[in-house]
Amino acid sequence: MAKPIALAADHGGFELKEAVKAHLEELGLEYIDFGTHSTDSVDYPDMAVPACDAVVSGQCEKALLFCGTGVGISMAANKIKGIRACCCSDSFSCEYTRRHNDANMLAIGAGFTGKNLAERMVEVFLSTDFEGGRHERRVNKLNAIQP
Ligand code: RB5
Repeated sequence: MAKPIALAADHGGFELKEAVKAHLEELGLEYIDFGTHSTDSVDYPDMAVPACDAVVSGQCEKALLFCGTGVGISMAANKIKGIRACCCSDSFSCEYTRRHNDANMLAIGAGFTGKNLAERMVEVFLSTDFEGGRHERRVNKLNAIQP
């Protein structure tokens, strides 16, 4: 059985996280929601870390992150060894960050990404496999940069 998908958002991403969560349920996909659980102001690094821990530990294989821009929460995630988070605003990038970068986290900016686009981006991200081959060498070099 597939592992659950980790979800995390700050207050800026809360509503889009909830919309994507409902879409995952429609698709029959399991998830673990690491918060936040309201629009009350929180700090995105605090929300990113538990989702990263779930991926690094193997509890989850992939994570979906949400904040106002997708930038802050992806920057926080990329500080953590083993995480390759990509902040995307289109489905092409979502496809290629899986095919070429083996990204294990997708960050979406809720301030400018509509629900329908976010759902499509998530579908593409979750269903696209890493190509390996020459990209494996590059991803290995990426991983080696992390202390
Ligand atoms: C929160 O105000 C906002 O800064 C945050 O959601 C995100 O956009 C940061 O990168």
